[in-house]
Amino acid sequence: MTAPENFQRFLPLVEQGLRRALANGPDELLRASRYVLGWEDASGRPSSGGGKRLRPLICLEVAAAIGVAPERALPGAVAVELIHNFSLVHDDIQDGDAIRHGRPTAWKVIGQPQAINLGNFLYARGIGQLTDCSLPGAPAALRLLVDAIERMVEGQWSDIAFETAAQVTEQEYLAMVAGKTGALLGAAAGIGSALAGADTRSVEAFRRWGELLGLAFQVRDDYLGTWGDPDATGKSASSDIVRRKRTLPVVYALAAGETDALSAYYAEKNDGRSSGLTPEAVAEILATRGAREHTDALARRLAADADDALYTVAELGHDTTTLRALAAFIVERDR
Ligand code: IPE
Ligand code: IPE
Ligand code: MG
Ligand code: MG
Repeated sequence: MTAPENFQRFLPLVEQGLRRALANGPDELLRASRYVLGWEDASGRPSSGGGKRLRPLICLEVAAAIGVAPERALPGAVAVELIHNFSLVHDDIQDGDAIRHGRPTAWKVIGQPQAINLGNFLYARGIGQLTDCSLPGAPAALRLLVDAIERMVEGQWSDIAFETAAQVTEQEYLAMVAGKTGALLGAAAGIGSALAGADTRSVEAFRRWGELLGLAFQVRDDYLGTWGDPDATGKSASSDIVRRKRTLPVVYALAAGETDALSAYYAEKNDGRSSGLTPEAVAEILATRGAREHTDALARRLAADADDALYTVAELGHDTTTLRALAAFIVERDR
């Protein structure tokens, strides 16, 4: 499923802003950045096929919902997308992933040490978008961004710690996801409103909506990481399982606490034994335990929560028409 057509309307603006933000600087880092953003292949030839640009589009749609020109929120949109890409470059090292967007991940192309540098470069460029912005809402936007990065890193810490945890509850999972994914989606929405000149109550209402959207988004990501089509997602459908990631399907299927083949598989990283299960067999067991239906149902429930949060936004006088289509898209997407 592609994004609702209307939601793509500011994509050219986002691309223009990103290109401008990466126009000057150290040659090698800029070249590696163009690869990560999907503009070039590994040999520097023009190509297409980066990310969905979900976060910057949310940021600009929020400004539009408030009734200002989207250009006003562009520094925030560019900032969140650069920070997102910093997090992906480091995440692929942390998760040991070799494929993203159907291409080798950055560290596979330039090696882990330089990919760490590349991530740090994108981080600095992201922050710089807001330090250089003279709008009255810029300091508040920068605070939202920095808070979100802290929470994102905390979420990433938990995500990795959970790989070797004895038990992870759904509540612990949701707290982890609120950090690793919810925080930046929330910031994208909050920053769009702050730069648009919204009052603090509106900023918080938009931020809250974005965070709930992020929770639904990550639960769908977990679904796609287990049962998705790698040709559509551009990512592996086995690496979460191999890595013993406590994705929502796994958390759900292990909740009963029974000792069986599945629990043995998830204990393997710690006890060094081998259950002999392939990732495909694990995905199959998860499905027979009802984890597929549960994951889909939770994504939909969180999307409904996000839609509910829009009532507060509407009560504060903002137009929620375009924003309302987003939650449904996010839980039905296949890429
Ligand atoms: C991937 O995010 C990382 C998560 C937080 C799940 P996206 O699916 O938005 O990544 P791109 O930007 O489209 O590559
Ligand atoms: C990525 O989460 C979250 C951040 C980069 C902060 P995942 O590791 O679950 O996402 P994918 O599946 O690699 O995109
Ligand atoms: Mg990952
Ligand atoms: Mg990860």
